[in-house]
Amino acid sequence: QTGLTTLDYGFVNTAATKSAITYIDGDQGILRYRGYPIEQLAKQSTFLEVAWLLIHGELPTADELGGFDEKIRRHTLLHEDLKRFFSALPHTAHPMAVLSSALQAMSTYYESDANPHDPDHVELTTVRMLAKLPVIAAYAHKKSVGQAFLYPDNSLSFVDNFLKLNFGNLAEPYEIDPVLSKALDLLLILHEDHEQNASTSTVRLVGSTGANLYASVSAGINALSGPLHGGANEAVLQMLGRIQESGEGVQRFVDRVKNKEDGVKLMGFGHRVYKNYDPRAKLVKESAGEVLRALGINDPLLDLAQELEQIALEDDYFKERKLYPNVDFYTGVIYKAMGFPTRMFTVLFAIGRLPGWIAHWREMNLDPQTKIGRPQQLYTGSPERPFPTR
Ligand code: SDX
Repeated sequence: QTGLTTLDYGFVNTAATKSAITYIDGDQGILRYRGYPIEQLAKQSTFLEVAWLLIHGELPTADELGGFDEKIRRHTLLHEDLKRFFSALPHTAHPMAVLSSALQAMSTYYESDANPHDPDHVELTTVRMLAKLPVIAAYAHKKSVGQAFLYPDNSLSFVDNFLKLNFGNLAEPYEIDPVLSKALDLLLILHEDHEQNASTSTVRLVGSTGANLYASVSAGINALSGPLHGGANEAVLQMLGRIQESGEGVQRFVDRVKNKEDGVKLMGFGHRVYKNYDPRAKLVKESAGEVLRALGINDPLLDLAQELEQIALEDDYFKERKLYPNVDFYTGVIYKAMGFPTRMFTVLFAIGRLPGWIAHWREMNLDPQTKIGRPQQLYTGSPERPFPTR
């Protein structure tokens, strides 16, 4: 599907990828999944309903959604041997490294004798991944805090099961907090897809070679882990913490960013496409205030983030470069209030983005016109020269 239209980004013509899944207008700050505005989906839909929409192109009927939910609940168990995979890793392992490698390991159980492009197998793989990636993520969290892994509870919703797997333990019953449940479902919706971002482009490029969905998504998770991409939500909390501990004050920090001291950046700000306020950031910012109030948490880091945003938005350096808060700027404050360790933040981004990765892989692989990806190059090296005679 590449090469349909060639757009000129500066000095290199880049063949645009054609996709019908997500539309972004960076100047207007518009984001739509299959034509539906993100603001309406965020307020009225659920993570699984939006996942179906992204993958199948239309909103599910009540029966379709019920069947999808039921299938996912019935595939949450990991193979018992796969659980031993975690014991080979140090408790200090970064959960993103655990996520991508455990997912790849999962393919050794399900891909050995399958045709990765058979439609029924793709459907089953879709359900398995949506059901099991959150369990792998929760086990990575439990591993990092030295607690026992819990079994999934299929009587719970997708989000509630995930919360219990992370915060429940064998010593006492776990009570679902509806505030956390609603906030996490919203955050997952906001992350579900974002057109040809670096990790989704990675999934498509790997998938275009004929690699199976596990290998493609595992590569996408690795791309997402970088601090310029999904790793930014973790980097924002670290940045806010450093400002708070140093006592240098927000304006001094902003001045260091403007002077590009030690390459410091305002993490959670700026975007390859949005040259306006990221519509997701607005919704996350609203949710951050609601969640902290509902939980009775007064986190100075939220005040710090709001002060940082206000100073930056009024500063010509950021205005000239069209730098606004992106989806990662406020998410960490909410994840922290929920009780997730900072290193789990990008894992939460990956769980949210999984339906989008799957949708793009399927869109590409269901189209017979798809060619193997081959990004164009502009050669800037030496002209031909003879090897020196000796
Ligand atoms: C995500 O693509 C997607 O859709 C991604 C994503 C998704 O949903 O998949 O939206 C998720 O990855 C959001 C972005 C998360 N990353 C961060 O928050 C990291 C901090 N932001 C930057 O590193 C940067 O803004 C990028 C990487 C996000 C975008 O970089 P660009 O568009 O290539 O901008 P650039 O590097 O060309 O910068 C243009 C100017 C430069 O200044 P000058 O050299 O012209 O003087 O803006 C400056 C940059 O130095 N700049 C920043 C800055 N981002 C850009 N200066 C300070 N702080 C920043 N954050």
